[in-house]
Parts: sequence; C-alpha cells; structure tokens
Amino acid sequence: GWDSLVAQSATPADPDCNLSILVTGAAGFVGFHVSLALKKRGDGVVGVDNFNRYYDPSLKRDRAKILERNGVFVVEADINDSELLEKLLSIGKFTHVVHLAAQAGVRYAMKNPDSYIHSNIAGLISVLESIKSANPQPALIWASSSSVYGLNSKVPFSEKDRTDQPASLYAATKKAGEEIAHAYNHIYGISITGLRFFTVYGPWGRPDMAYFSFTKDILKRKRIMIYEGPNQRSVARDFTYVDDIVKGCLAALDTAEKSTGSGGKKTGPAQLRVYNLGNTSPVMVKKLVSILEKLLKVEARKQVLPMPRNGDVMFTHANLSLAETELGYKPTTDLQTGLKNFVKWYLYYYYFQSEKSVM
Ligand code: NAD
Ligand code: UGA
Repeated sequence: GWDSLVAQSATPADPDCNLSILVTGAAGFVGFHVSLALKKRGDGVVGVDNFNRYYDPSLKRDRAKILERNGVFVVEADINDSELLEKLLSIGKFTHVVHLAAQAGVRYAMKNPDSYIHSNIAGLISVLESIKSANPQPALIWASSSSVYGLNSKVPFSEKDRTDQPASLYAATKKAGEEIAHAYNHIYGISITGLRFFTVYGPWGRPDMAYFSFTKDILKRKRIMIYEGPNQRSVARDFTYVDDIVKGCLAALDTAEKSTGSGGKKTGPAQLRVYNLGNTSPVMVKKLVSILEKLLKVEARKQVLPMPRNGDVMFTHANLSLAETELGYKPTTDLQTGLKNFVKWYLYYYYFQSEKSVM
C-alpha cells in the first residue's frame, strides 16, 4: 500500500520515480476512467480517494481493484489532509494534478450541505495549498460543472456566458471553485484548467444519476419519475459519454502550460483556462427512458411530473467551439451507443457478480 509507494521512491523527488500525475477522486466514476487511460498510455499515476458512502462504496472498491491491477495505487485519504498531499507530491516528479474528487450530485445538497463545503470548497483549497507548496508546482486540471450556467436560458452555453445564477448549492460550490482557482492562479502562478463537464454517463457510472437508477428500477419493474418542465418545455440534458470526457481531460492535460510559480512575474502570468466538455446534443429525459426501454426490452412504469426537480436546471447544451479549437475536443459517442455500452456493463456487473473481477 502506501508504504510500498513510499519505498518505490528511494529519496524524496527521486529522479527515477515515475509518478507524474496525481488523480484525486480516482475511485470515482470519471477518476477511474481517467486514471486507467493515463496509465494505459504510459503515464505514472497515483490516486487519492476517501471512498465515502455517498453511493455504494463497494463499487468504488471494485474500481480501485481494477486500477491497482493495472498499476495505479489509490491512497485512501481525504483531500483535506493537505499534509499527506504535500508528502505525496514530494515523493514523485509530479507535473500534473487531475482533481476530480468532489461531492457530486445536485439534489443531495438539500440533505447534506456540509459535504459540499467540505469537499468542493475546503477540499479544493487544500489541493491548491499542497500544489502551492510543491516544488516544482504541478499544473492543475479540475472538474467544474455545466451546472455553473444555472438559470441562464441562452443556449448553447459558451464559456463567456453568465454564471452568476446557480440553481443549487452544488452549482454554487463549483462556481466558487472557479473563483478560488482564479485567486490561486493570480497569487501563486499555478497553471489551472477548469473543465465544465455536462451530465457524464457510461460503464462504471454513478448509481445516483438518472440513467443508472432508471436502469435499475426499470429492470425491477419499479415506477420511475420523469420530471418535466411546465408548458411542454421538457427538461433536457447534454448527456456526454465518459470516453469523450476522458479524451477532453487528457487533451487539457497535454496542452497545460507549466505553472510559473509565485507571482508569475518573470515568465508572465500562469495559464488559467475554462472549457465546456459536453456533447452539444441535448436529449429530453423522456427520450433517455425510451432508449433504455428498448435496450432492456422492458417497458418502464413511468410517472411524468410537470415540473423540474427543485435545484435542477431545465436545460443544458454545450457550445464546444473553444474546446474544439484549443483542445481538439470532439465528442464521438451518441447517446444510443453510449447507453448500449452502459447497459452491457450494468448487466454484467450486477447479474454476473462472480465474474466482476473481469473488466
Ligand atoms: P464520483 O462521486 O463518482 O467521484 C468522486 C470521487 O471523489 C468519489 O470516489 C469520492 O469517494 C471521492 N471524494 C469525494 N470527496 C472526497 C474527499 N473529500 N476526499 C477524497 N476523496 C473524495 O463523481 P464523478 O461523476 O466521477 O465526478 C467527478 C468530478 O466531475 C466531480 O468533481 C464532479 O463534481 C464533476 N462532474 C461530474 C459530472 C457527471 O455527470 N458525472 C458532471 C459535471 C461535473
Ligand atoms: C449531473 C451530475 O449528477 C452532477 O454531478 C453534474 O454536475 C451535472 O450533471 C452537470 O452536468 O454539471 P444532472 O444533469 O442533474 O446532474 O444528472 P441526473 O441526476 O442524472 O439527472 C438527469 C436528468 O434526469 C435531470 O433532468 C433530472 O431532473 C432527471 N431525473 C432525474 C428525472 O426525471 N427523474 C429522476 O428520478 C432523476
């Protein structure tokens, strides 16, 4: 575990130690896929995750097992432990931190607001503090969210559009994160890229998200709720397949400039970027359900409600021009294909448990 990781590096900042990328939230949905992709292309990756109980921790353990089998060790720790993060950053030759640990989910904030402050505000500051103390300072790539566009109704959303009307505490903490990032970039010359992901789905996904819970409930013949807007204005999401998001994260990492260090005066200001990573193809929740019904060959028991859920935005739709121009980002997986992959994984993972060790 942790000891063998430390042992891998004979001396602090061992020149032969190949650890170069730290991924927080590595046992999470997106963190798992990003860590695996980095490792598979030959990067030295170490993960951090606190395996919290927001959703089934055994799913996180299974993701971590696969990562370990592929040579990515996941340190069990909270990102608020900045001492540990500093120690970690001092043993490798870290060039990048990919920060994906957060309290995700829009509606859970109404039950547990503290976890958003803990992980999304204090946790981000702790990550930035440990980067600030590292020498050299790694560049930061971190997950913001499409939810920062809030009640903005001018679609598609561009990075320059207003983000001052969050519809949930989750969105407010992501928006605050973007401002905290600005301050640390300005004062300490840390190179920072914020990625606004749009409703990510795929294999090894998050059980709290609609596509996942709908699949589970449809198979159990349980009734599902479809929240729709009033006056035929249906709620829609720019659902984005996880492999596309991974490509966007890797492109952001590969194009990140080095941090300039404190003040950033000698070499000019450090890089500060924000990009939408979406699919630019919004789909109504009703349509999501009908695709799942066909894939599962089961008709869902549906209850349609004429309002969005409290804290939900009505519509998300990414303008991808900036990400395309600067990152070469172009999503390639449509919802039908992506959901097919998800359903295949879901049936395998939950119905053939004995073989779940096989990816
Ligand atoms: P996830 O919940 O599956 O992954 C987050 C991981 O971080 C979890 O494994 C969790 O245990 C860990 N974590 C949370 N708080 C922590 C803490 N204080 N210390 C250490 N580890 C902690 O979520 P995800 O869907 O993989 O999301 C990854 C990132 O992308 C998050 O920042 C999320 O807000 C953002 N995001 C996700 C989506 C989406 O649709 N999945 C959309 C927009 C933004
Ligand atoms: C998702 C993630 O959960 C957030 O972490 C992320 O920040 C956000 O995307 C984002 O893009 O920034 P959300 O789009 O609300 O949030 O994802 P789901 O919870 O999967 O909901 C998708 C849609 O299904 C929403 O319109 C929701 O109202 C609807 N829904 C959800 C229902 O109609 N019924 C349900 O039972 C659940």
